[in-house]
Parts: sequence; C-alpha cells; structure tokens
Amino acid sequence: MDPITNPYAPGAGQRPPELAGRDEQLTAFDVTLERVAKGRPERSVVLTGLRGVGKTVLLNALRSAAVRADWGSGKLEARPEQPLRRPLAAALHMAMRELGHPQSDDVLGTVQAFAAREIGTGGRVRDRWNPGIDVPATTGRADSGDMEIDLVELLTDVGGLAADLGRGVAIFVDEMQDLRPEDISALCAACHELSQNRLPVVVVGAGLPHLPAVLSASKSYSERLFRYSRIDRLDRAAADQALASPARDEDVEFTPGSLAELYAMTAGYPYFVQAYGKAVWDAAAGSPVTVEDVRVAAPDAEAELGVGFFGSRYERATPAEREYLRAMAETAVAGGDAGEPEPDSVTTAAVAAHLDRKPQSLSPARDSLLKKGLIYSGERGRIAFPVPHFGRYLRQQA
Ligand SMILES: Nc1ncnc2c1ncn2[C@@H]1O[C@H](COP(=O)(O)OP(=O)(O)OP(=O)(O)O)[C@@H](O)[C@H]1O
Ligand SMILES: [Mg+2]
Repeated sequence: MDPITNPYAPGAGQRPPELAGRDEQLTAFDVTLERVAKGRPERSVVLTGLRGVGKTVLLNALRSAAVRADWGSGKLEARPEQPLRRPLAAALHMAMRELGHPQSDDVLGTVQAFAAREIGTGGRVRDRWNPGIDVPATTGRADSGDMEIDLVELLTDVGGLAADLGRGVAIFVDEMQDLRPEDISALCAACHELSQNRLPVVVVGAGLPHLPAVLSASKSYSERLFRYSRIDRLDRAAADQALASPARDEDVEFTPGSLAELYAMTAGYPYFVQAYGKAVWDAAAGSPVTVEDVRVAAPDAEAELGVGFFGSRYERATPAEREYLRAMAETAVAGGDAGEPEPDSVTTAAVAAHLDRKPQSLSPARDSLLKKGLIYSGERGRIAFPVPHFGRYLRQQA
C-alpha cells in the first residue's frame, strides 16, 4: 500500500498513531493532578519498563495532561554522569514560563541562582552559563552548593508560587536511572519535603526496570514516596487496537488471522508493533491485510529491527563484552524447555559457569556493559537485558 499514508511510527519517542493500552496510567494521572491541586496527599509517579515499551511516549502524554490541567510543566532527559542542575533549571524555567505570571520572575531569579551553582564546588565561582532566563540571579536561596538543600529550597519556592496561583507544576524526568546518585538522593529528599508541605509539585520519572532499586538504594523511604507503574507490552486487545485503529482511518482493515499472526511475532511490544505495522503496510497490496502479507513482510520488519533496535546496541559492545552478552543469552535458555518463556534475568554466577571462567575475571566486561546500559541489574547477583528479545537476537546471530 501507499508508503506515504503509512501511519505507523517505529522510533524512539515517536508518538504512535494510537496510544493503546495506557488508559489506566492516564486516568490515574488525572486523579493525581486533581488531588495535588486540592492539597491532598499524593505520591509522585515513576514509570518503569524495558526499552521500547513506550515510557517516553507515555511521559509526553502525561505532560500533555498536565498542560491541559493548566499546570506549568518541564521535561528533561537524564544522561550518565551529567549533573542535574542545569537540565532541571531549564525544565523549571519552561514550567515557570507556562505559568506565565509576573510573580514567577522572583522564582526565576532563584532558578537562575540554582543553575549557576553547578560550577564552583570550591567556592562561589559562577560561570556565565545562562539558561535563557532574562532575570538576574537572586542570592541567598537555592545557591548553597549543597544539592539537597538547594533543591528543597528551589522546589519549595516553585511550589509556593504555584499554590498561590491555584495551579501546579509537573517535572518529567526521562531515563531517570541515569541520574547521578547525589542527584537522585537530592530529588528524593525534595519530593519528601514537598509532599509533607502539600505543595502542588509532582515529579514524574521514567526509567528501566531497576529504577525502583536505584531509588531505594538512595533513600529507604523512596518506596513510600513514589507510585511505581510498570509499563509493559500490550495485551492482545491493545496491540490489535494499536494496529487496526490507525489503519481504519485510512479505510484499511486487518483480517483476524493477520492480527493473530502479528501478535505472535511482536509479542505486543510497542516498538515491534510499530515496526511490523510499518513493514506489513508497505508490503500489502491492499485491504484487507492478510496472514500472507504479514509473513511476506516479516523478514523486512526483522531486518529493520536487526539494524535499528538490536544491531545499533550490539555494535557498541567490544569483543569481550559481546562474548559476555552471548553467554547471557545462552544461559537464559540452557536447561529450559523449548517454548518455555525466557527468564527475566540470569545470575552472574551462571554466566561465569557457562563460560567456564572465574566470576572475577568477567567483572570488567560486566561492569562496562552495565555502564553502557546494555545490561542492568535489578537485584544483587542477577543481570538482564533491558532490550526485549535481545537474547533471541543474539542466539540467532550465533
Ligand atoms: N501505547 C502504545 N501503543 C502503540 N505504540 C506505542 C505505544 N507506546 C509506544 N509506542 C511505540 O513504541 C515505540 C517506542 O516508544 P518509546 O520510545 O516511548 O519507548 P521507551 O520505553 O521510551 O523506549 P526507550 O527505553 O528505548 O527510551 C515508538 O515507536 C512508539 O510509537
Ligand atoms: Mg524512552
């Protein structure tokens, strides 16, 4: 069919034509916004899930909900080793502008002062970085250089202003697991303080499945601070909807058999659903899309995923790291029956045993894979792939 009208959108953070299966999270967030605006106790929200399940897309949808509720909002994406001050200041600047009130200038001065403290751990050195805030930095608030103190002061001022205006502020943090430990800890402390004072500020985080472990390693009370929501693959009905609804807008139908076949191939993982949808659309002659169309398009979809989703990650690994990744993939199925679902994680001891090596001799490879984000550890002694079906991909490479 015409590639120009192809509605599907495989790609990181690409808004899908139909946001399927996320009504529960969207509704819960509307309730959160209402409760916080009314000064009711409420926890901040953290979305967790594997690569490509739709965390970024959902985070953006929640941000739209905050904007619709007339809140100020800002978003940042955490990067490994990168200090939080500047990206957070930029996000708060955006939120203050959305609130668009003359009074926000005072708070912007504090945002400015907060941002400027990033450099100058040794003294009161300030550099000329300017987040585009055309308000002079104030002194004496959020500029001590101690991240925890500064963040509590800053968000208290932000929350105070929002409360005065009868509105709220929502800050969205994508890839939250990549925040530095000191920043995570400061952010938890600030959320704790805000919720005790019932200030209308919410932090919404998104990250990989081990994010709750990262948070609780930082502050033991984090479990009570955040409402964790696991973002998972779509169930059959939602996956069908994600495919069929955008097609229907173009007067294209799927046969029931083609949808069943697509679910068998994608397992409902949103990225795969989009990639397959796109390939099948391009391959099909017309409506309705049949099982045969799906089978013909499958190699194209797999090739696309092999390069864009799996290959781009595999290429970042050194030969020693690749050996380790393959051993993980083989360990995951060794001993299991064919057709049995792959375990979510494997023990590092089992991987070492599989390679017939001493665990210590493998720690450099394992540590660099953790650093590169190609594996994660949600539990001591256990590791897993953040990318769904990565084990299967690696076994097929062999
Ligand atoms: N609910 C959904 N229904 C249909 N498609 C979706 C849904 N959520 C996400 N997608 C699609 O899945 C793909 C991945 O989405 P997104 O980038 O948000 O995932 P992610 O979890 O943030 O991944 P990563 O961890 O790699 O950042 C995109 O192509 C998007 O259009
Ligand atoms: Mg993302």
